[in-house]
Amino acid sequence: MPIIVVVGGQWGDEGKGRIVDLLARKAKVVARYSAGNNAGHTIVNDRGEFKLHVVPAGIFYPEKTCVIGNGVAVDPEVLLGEIENLEAKGVSTSKLVLSDRAQVIMPWHKRIDQLDEAMRGEAAIGTTGKGVGPCFVDKVARRGIRIADLLRAEDLRPRVESTLAYQNKVITGVYGGEPIAFEDCFQAYLEFGRRLHQYVGDVQAIVLDAHHRGEYVLLEGAQGSLLDLDHGTYPYVTSSVPSSSSAGAALGVGIGPTDIQRVVGVFKSYSTRVGNGPFPTELFDDVANTLRDHGKEYGRGEYGTTTGRPRRIGWLDAVSARYSVRFNGLAAVALTRLDVLDQMPTIKICTHYELDGEIIETLPARESVLNAVKPIYEELPGWLAPTTEVRNFDDLPPQAQAFIKRVEQLLGCPVDLISVGPSREQAIIVNPIF
Ligand code: IMP
Ligand code: MG
Repeated sequence: MPIIVVVGGQWGDEGKGRIVDLLARKAKVVARYSAGNNAGHTIVNDRGEFKLHVVPAGIFYPEKTCVIGNGVAVDPEVLLGEIENLEAKGVSTSKLVLSDRAQVIMPWHKRIDQLDEAMRGEAAIGTTGKGVGPCFVDKVARRGIRIADLLRAEDLRPRVESTLAYQNKVITGVYGGEPIAFEDCFQAYLEFGRRLHQYVGDVQAIVLDAHHRGEYVLLEGAQGSLLDLDHGTYPYVTSSVPSSSSAGAALGVGIGPTDIQRVVGVFKSYSTRVGNGPFPTELFDDVANTLRDHGKEYGRGEYGTTTGRPRRIGWLDAVSARYSVRFNGLAAVALTRLDVLDQMPTIKICTHYELDGEIIETLPARESVLNAVKPIYEELPGWLAPTTEVRNFDDLPPQAQAFIKRVEQLLGCPVDLISVGPSREQAIIVNPIF
């Protein structure tokens, strides 16, 4: 049975949590494989609205095992908070498993994230400030602390001692910040380890055993592919190692690339981005406000799940989307928030960029070029009719069908699933993904 990867195709917040929640119905195991609590999923179901940052979106199905892979940067305080909140609302976390190889976000990571952004001034990345970037820096620098280290005082003490000694020099010397006291930090993390111990398990075995038993496994990416360290709009990217793009999925749970059968990319029917960095189709007019505030009164507007920041808004950018389809090896697209376009008299899609009379069809690497390109749009008529109750492709207004067909053509990938609202059943399954 297949192992399927679900990734965000743009700059994040494409509605992956909602798609994972839907696809998780058939899966036995749902795993997060990268990033940290910079990510945020909003899920609406019969128990209410949930905002998850670390726990996989499959947690609402009691019979499924939910896995946090070795590729994830885990803030134990945030994870424990999510567990408590879920349990308090009657959602069991007894089938949650945390990799002992996952990196831990420590207090110095959060402090450095904020000090570093302040030091960058105008050139700030616009990070979520959760310490995720500095945590991955420590991972690569081989001084990270892993979940396994939290479980015993004799393992944790020397690791915190050596890394904190180094990081306090960085905090005070490079940034002029306040050092972090050892003992409080050590005791707090030892306590986190004690509380997390019951969740720690062998992630690789869980994923592969399910696969070999013939069960479906869903590997859930966080963030968007255009925030990828290698392929994204560097340096305005996130620092996850392994990457949140599909290639990182195998590494992030400890399986091989040949174990993965299919990759599904989630794209919004338009584009959004939080944080700084190039965004060729960004809009600054009333269209942006209309799209951003659609559904705001019931918490569905375009405001960050993690930071509450208003998201930057633009039309669908088929140039960056096509590029993302390619480096993720996508077999299918899930197109979300089609209903947000219901109110638009005309809809634009950027088909290519232009710069000094030259046509550009894929994402340029140079930041200055990407900032200077002119998006060239194709205009499609809107449908000006509600789609929220539609459940079959053929029942969509003809203009909406034409829009989707054009997206497929431009992206070079079939649209197999369309979402027309936040709840589980507000979806049009064009081709079953499982
Ligand atoms: P960091 O991951 O907090 O270091 O932030 C780096 C960049 O990635 C910033 O532009 C953030 O806004 C963006 N980012 C990180 N996580 C997410 C996410 O889950 N959704 C959207 N943007 C994100
Ligand atoms: Mg999000």
